[in-house]
Amino acid sequence: MEIGFGAGEHLTAMARAHPEVGFIGCEPFINGVARLLGFIDQYQLDNVRIVDGDAALLLDKLPDASIDRAFLLFPDPWPKRRHHKRRFVRPSNIAAMARVLADGARWRMATDDAGYCRWMLAHLADHPEFEWLVRRPSDWRCRPEDWPPTRYEGKALAEGRAPAYLGFQRRSRQVTADAANGLIKGGEAHI
Ligand SMILES: C[S@@+](CC[C@H](N)C(=O)[O-])C[C@H]1O[C@@H](n2cnc3c(N)ncnc32)[C@H](O)[C@@H]1O
Repeated sequence: MEIGFGAGEHLTAMARAHPEVGFIGCEPFINGVARLLGFIDQYQLDNVRIVDGDAALLLDKLPDASIDRAFLLFPDPWPKRRHHKRRFVRPSNIAAMARVLADGARWRMATDDAGYCRWMLAHLADHPEFEWLVRRPSDWRCRPEDWPPTRYEGKALAEGRAPAYLGFQRRSRQVTADAANGLIKGGEAHI
């Protein structure tokens, strides 16, 4: 699932690379939807479904543990403090993501806004249902090879802003429940 696919270049590249996988893209911007439809037509993709609206509404409809990979790439940063509540990464959406992601599912996100990066980490790095997959600085400074670039990434780089690439894993529900019940130590509550 890709949230806010923009012009759809990342979703198209992923759908072409993994024809056996079904993809859902959410994007309320009609020109973006039109661009993605153009790519679908150009590459004859039959594994992409589009929701032309708010991803939060789709999340409400998805069954538990139904998504294996999620992508939130360069979401609108809403830099003013009074607008922070509009950011996609917020407690209600994180809870919805934790519900729809399968155990072990990966959630990739990227931003070129330092404030939003701190916000993402503040909300997710210590979250009981997510683990930040990071071992060394290059893990968040460099885009992995299997992560296709997007238009907004190109814009950020051209304007001299270094993006952060964050990868999270949805923890196993059983392990999280055991940790909450004190059956295992918090530090061992990893998949
Ligand atoms: C800054 S653009 C990034 C587009 C693309 N991901 C990229 O990296 O080039 C953010 C996109 O998120 C979309 N968006 C904003 N709120 C959204 C929401 N609630 N659900 C889905 N998409 C949303 C916007 O329409 C916009 O296309």
